[in-house]
Amino acid sequence: MGTVTRGTTNPNRLRRMDRWIAATHGGDLRRAKDAPVAVDLGYGAAPWTAVELLHRLRTVAPRARVVGVEIDPARVAAATPYECDGLAFRHGGFEIPVPGRLHLVRAANVLRQYDEAEVAAVWERLCSRLTPATGDSRGGLLVEGTCDEIGRRHVWIALGPQGPRTVTFATRLGSLERPSDLAERLPKALIHRNVPGEPVHAFLRDFDRAWAAAAPYASYGARQRWIRAVRNLSADWPVTDGPGRWRQGEVTVAWGALAPRA
Ligand SMILES: C[S@@+](CC[C@H](N)C(=O)[O-])C[C@H]1O[C@@H](n2cnc3c(N)ncnc32)[C@H](O)[C@@H]1O
Repeated sequence: MGTVTRGTTNPNRLRRMDRWIAATHGGDLRRAKDAPVAVDLGYGAAPWTAVELLHRLRTVAPRARVVGVEIDPARVAAATPYECDGLAFRHGGFEIPVPGRLHLVRAANVLRQYDEAEVAAVWERLCSRLTPATGDSRGGLLVEGTCDEIGRRHVWIALGPQGPRTVTFATRLGSLERPSDLAERLPKALIHRNVPGEPVHAFLRDFDRAWAAAAPYASYGARQRWIRAVRNLSADWPVTDGPGRWRQGEVTVAWGALAPRA
């Protein structure tokens, strides 16, 4: 299910997303009863992001397996020689031709090439494939987002079996003039909503103001300025993470605060 789109990818492009997944979802992956299965959906013209996802997940969950799924059969044929212990490639689309429930689905730079109106149904379909929540697990995770060609600017939405939970902004701080530079990397569900009257627009406006107010901290480096700005921002917006993640040039906000108006 879906359509073949541009296959642009790059080695290490998705490192920020991989690191966040390992940090926030690693415990659930490690505690999974069976070997946890992660799908890199739409890995592109080369298999790098799937190979890297496997390595990064295995640092926190040594039994993790990754299946790269691509809708372009030529890209699957090109990736197959890279199969190894824990890594396989399959031809398919949003139906995900992998049996059973999935602990992780990562779709990076895939939905940006679809219509906004298609997003909700795709999310619903992908979320229905996630492992359900149990007493000691929040269930599987869908991470859907966008970044620039070399992975300096990212925005992704994390969804659980019941739907969207959070939005994460992640950037290489040295390259940032102001937080709203990230607007051009908003995922499909938000990019057309960065207009006055929509929550994501108000959020980026407030983030820019907090960044400007934190300018004196720039003399200690962009990291200190970001941490200060996010701390100020968290007085008005439901920031769900803390300084440990902010230090990485990240901030995560509850989806409900940024969701588009109906
Ligand atoms: C821009 S590339 C992204 C590659 C990689 N994920 C990255 O971020 O570097 C998008 C890829 O998604 C694939 N794709 C698009 N729709 C798909 C679908 N429904 N199922 C699987 N792959 C899909 C395209 O064929 C393309 O190779």
